[in-house]
Amino acid sequence: MIGSTALVTGASGGIGAAIAHRLASEGVRLVLVARSKDALDALASTIHARHGVRPTVIVLDLERRACGALLLQQVQAAGIEVDLLVNNAGFGTYGAFETLAPELEQAQIAVNIGAVVDLTHAFLPGMLARGRVAILNIASTAAFQPCPFMAVYAATKAFVLSFSEALWAEYRGRGVHVAALCPGAVDTGFIGKLGDPGVRETAVFSSTLSPQVVAEQAIRALRGGGPTHIVGLKNALLANSARVTPRRLMALISGAMLRPRTHAQRA
Ligand SMILES: NC(=O)c1ccc[n+]([C@@H]2O[C@H](COP(=O)([O-])OP(=O)(O)OC[C@H]3O[C@@H](n4cnc5c(N)ncnc54)[C@H](OP(=O)(O)O)[C@@H]3O)[C@@H](O)[C@H]2O)c1
Repeated sequence: MIGSTALVTGASGGIGAAIAHRLASEGVRLVLVARSKDALDALASTIHARHGVRPTVIVLDLERRACGALLLQQVQAAGIEVDLLVNNAGFGTYGAFETLAPELEQAQIAVNIGAVVDLTHAFLPGMLARGRVAILNIASTAAFQPCPFMAVYAATKAFVLSFSEALWAEYRGRGVHVAALCPGAVDTGFIGKLGDPGVRETAVFSSTLSPQVVAEQAIRALRGGGPTHIVGLKNALLANSARVTPRRLMALISGAMLRPRTHAQRA
């Protein structure tokens, strides 16, 4: 990895920032992308002080249409060639579906799916020409079954998983390793942004991993040859059992594990 360049989306906090730190510790040069300029600048300074590499910061809203072309333009203008694309930016929504804001659901689809496809389209041709490159997409254990109360979020992550697995097979003989990283609950700003403090009491979010543990697994996913890397043995067992359990049963089980407290009281 030494001397290669990684572009990490959603690097202003959480898993993306942890992955950026971990890559920098391997001598990887970085392009950090998100909307929060101050957080990106602060991360870039810390990484420079700690690891001696000075990351390039690009502020961009990945909800925008054609964000891939916009980002590629800025990266090329800076004379940078990307060897590793980490599609990490994303967010979730939580609650009974009829209570969730339609605009936010659409924004979620745009960032979690639209930007992943668009950035892959924009960067893949150049990466193919370079060879020995990789794309790491951050999916989730939510990808393996329908998730009531996070229906759109889980569906976006199922897309990311399927998309990554398909591209893994398509490009494995062409010098591009594509992988999906699937963490369970991680202690980041993601949980607070779900907008219901009660979510931490659900079976899914009551115990969490640190973003640093997930970043370590990201490195393993890049070094391994497979398309799917599930974080944690328990999660791997659950996710793989979900693959052979009837979908209706999985929907009921995950619904019970995610049911908001307020909803449970009404039931
Ligand atoms: N935390 C979990 O429990 C968990 C579990 C499994 C998978 N994941 C996945 O892991 C990834 C990272 O999430 P996290 O847990 O690290 O959450 P986080 O701490 O909230 O970080 C999310 C990152 O995405 C960026 N982002 C969100 N909307 C964006 C937009 N419109 N344009 C550009 N950047 C945007 C945020 O940056 P700005 O706000 O600065 O733009 C931030 O850097 C997500 O794809 C998430 O779905 C999380």
